[in-house]
Amino acid sequence: MLEGVVVRGDGRGRALGFPTANVSPEGAWELPEDGVYAGWAELADGTVHVAAVSVGRRPTYYEHGDRLLEAYLLDFDGDLYEQRLRVEVGGRVRGQLKFSSAKELVAQMEADVAAVREIAGTSSPRLGAPAQLSERRGSQAAQG
Ligand SMILES: Cc1cc2nc3c(=O)[nH]c(=O)nc-3n(C[C@H](O)[C@H](O)[C@H](O)COP(=O)(O)O)c2cc1C
Repeated sequence: MLEGVVVRGDGRGRALGFPTANVSPEGAWELPEDGVYAGWAELADGTVHVAAVSVGRRPTYYEHGDRLLEAYLLDFDGDLYEQRLRVEVGGRVRGQLKFSSAKELVAQMEADVAAVREIAGTSSPRLGAPAQLSERRGSQAAQG
């Protein structure tokens, strides 16, 4: 679990189709080992969203990039800049890889998102139930 403010990245994520919130961790929070994880992000308004979380130096684009935590919030469209975010990191999907093209990175991120949906669908975050998942549980309950 970590908390921080969303800072501006290079703006490349939106062009790739995977806009990410770059979270600058505060205080004593430590980043997990480099890699891609299933996770959750709690916004300032208290809503929780499933996220594909990438921790690392973006080796596809940089030789010696800064170590960052980036969260791609699934099924979310909005401006998170300057917002405070709490991020819970769950199951690990894979390590960081250096791709030879943006196209290959995007294909892998699509697979990552599918893996994240699976993991998030079978685990309970400490942050609270994500909106889209609790809605689904609610409708299942309504069906008996
Ligand atoms: C699910 C996910 C997986 C990622 N995996 C990698 C990776 O394996 N290698 C890499 O170089 N960058 C990876 N990234 C980071 C992207 O390179 C980064 O989000 C993109 O370049 C946009 O950066 P920006 O926010 O600074 O514009 C990943 C990002 C996400 C959301």
